[in-house]
Amino acid sequence: MYIKINQVTDWVAEIVDFDCASMTPETTREVEESFKRNHVLAFRDQSMTPSELSAFAKKFGPLETPINQLYVHPESSDVLILSNEIRTDGTAVGVVDGGDGWHSDSSHMKSPAKATILQSIKNPDIGGDTLYCNMELVLNALPSSTRKRIAGRFGVHNVSKLLNPRMTLSAKRPDAQEFYQKAAATKPSVLQPMIRTHPATGVQSLYVSPRFTIAIEGMSENEAQPLLDELFAYISDEKFQYRHIWSDNDVVMWDNRCLNHKATGNLAPGDIRRMHRTVLSGDEAF
Ligand code: OGA
Ligand code: MN
Repeated sequence: MYIKINQVTDWVAEIVDFDCASMTPETTREVEESFKRNHVLAFRDQSMTPSELSAFAKKFGPLETPINQLYVHPESSDVLILSNEIRTDGTAVGVVDGGDGWHSDSSHMKSPAKATILQSIKNPDIGGDTLYCNMELVLNALPSSTRKRIAGRFGVHNVSKLLNPRMTLSAKRPDAQEFYQKAAATKPSVLQPMIRTHPATGVQSLYVSPRFTIAIEGMSENEAQPLLDELFAYISDEKFQYRHIWSDNDVVMWDNRCLNHKATGNLAPGDIRRMHRTVLSGDEAF
């Protein structure tokens, strides 16, 4: 072994004494191996530039083009800026409402994200944690009657918050209304299996989220919405969760194929949080 792994929980690990910017083929392979056993990997003290972050991420596979071109980093168009900072002219520095509500990244796309790699550039004094929910544990916890109701079914996923009564538009995001209106008009819903099989491990997980799953295909609204509420309630149960409390220069890589996650917000007024984000492309879910 070239890399040192500090197990945090059964499914979360820190890779310690590690420099993401100077990975070799051997260390890359060991990180990939460790990512099969762990759904969240954290690397502390990584002061990578946006170009270095992009190069690090690309060692694990091709990247998604950021959905919001307005807020990509000028140094690397692979890197999306998430930040609550608003300039004096009223424009936002990054995506203000990134990670609002429990979700799995780009499940609204036909081939959703495999993994997301997020680097903390500046952390607030209070708040700004990210929560992760292990959807394999959630699936195992479902009563067999509920599991039967979702077996073989598909969730309807859509990116627009305007089509999702469980979501509200962030008042702090200047272009939210326009952005989600355009999304509603141009990005059709996609179907995703409600029970997903992890392509690398074969383990099944519940693959729905309050942020993107707005209906169940072929099921009436009267039946589907209470069932979705029942499923979503599990995600809020702390026993399935890991909370990442960020330090500046943390890099966290998570597996979107078996997790939900969300930004917790709750920053003090005037405090700034800034993250740099890259996303690894994935295959169609099955
Ligand atoms: C994301 C995301 C959460 C956060 O980058 O996909 O959901 O806490 N981020 O910033
Ligand atoms: Mn996300």
